[in-house]
Amino acid sequence: MRRTIVAGNWKMNASKESVDELILGILSGMNEVSSEVVVCPSFPYLSQVEDLIADSQVKLGAQNLNTNSSGAFTGEVSANMIKEFGVGHVIVGHSERRSFYGETNALVAEKVKTALDNNLTPLLCVGESLEQREAGETEAVVAEQINAVIELVGVGAFSNIIIAYEPVWAIGTGKTASPEQAQAAHLFIRTLLGESNENIAQNTHILYGGSMNAANANELITCADIDGGLIGGASLKAEDFLQICKAG
Ligand code: 13P
Repeated sequence: MRRTIVAGNWKMNASKESVDELILGILSGMNEVSSEVVVCPSFPYLSQVEDLIADSQVKLGAQNLNTNSSGAFTGEVSANMIKEFGVGHVIVGHSERRSFYGETNALVAEKVKTALDNNLTPLLCVGESLEQREAGETEAVVAEQINAVIELVGVGAFSNIIIAYEPVWAIGTGKTASPEQAQAAHLFIRTLLGESNENIAQNTHILYGGSMNAANANELITCADIDGGLIGGASLKAEDFLQICKAG
């Protein structure tokens, strides 16, 4: 049985003040939550969030990492650095990084490997653009994104990888994938993993991301192959995020 996982991707949002309010708000409702909960703030707030969630069941994630362990890489952050702040998860291959910062399938696979080599759980994001969906390429695109990772780290590594299916057209647009569309994509991903290893396929968590909110979380998370959510906008409001954490 796969436990529900809800992760908040705060993206480039928050301030010292709002972090306190958001985390304290989330903590106030955690006694009613049975899902695994992860929050992923920007790097400057990792230490603050680490302190606030100490002694709680909330886990800490980062939004990116560099594949190098140290050196002359101005502006970049290594696995060792984020681990010093209690980070256990790291988002890799988000569509915003793929499209705005040129992250290729090959680089994303390297980042997954770096995370795994450092005992961090990658939250591997995959998903198609609107053009790709309309051209009937959804499955081909997602397969290419996942196969690049399988080729580098092997399918067995997926016992330590969380996948997030995030159709690009649904991110930040208010246009959520329908439960049928999302379930079909999730089943496709699970079947793809199953072609290499059925046991891994059945145990891999596949989260949905893209305009998931308090109102639609339940109908998505209760789909057979949807194991939780990666939440953007709605993770910035404690009440909404908690509602999603209680879904399923
Ligand atoms: P929204 O929930 O704001 O659509 O963002 C989803 C996302 O990109 C999570 O990584």
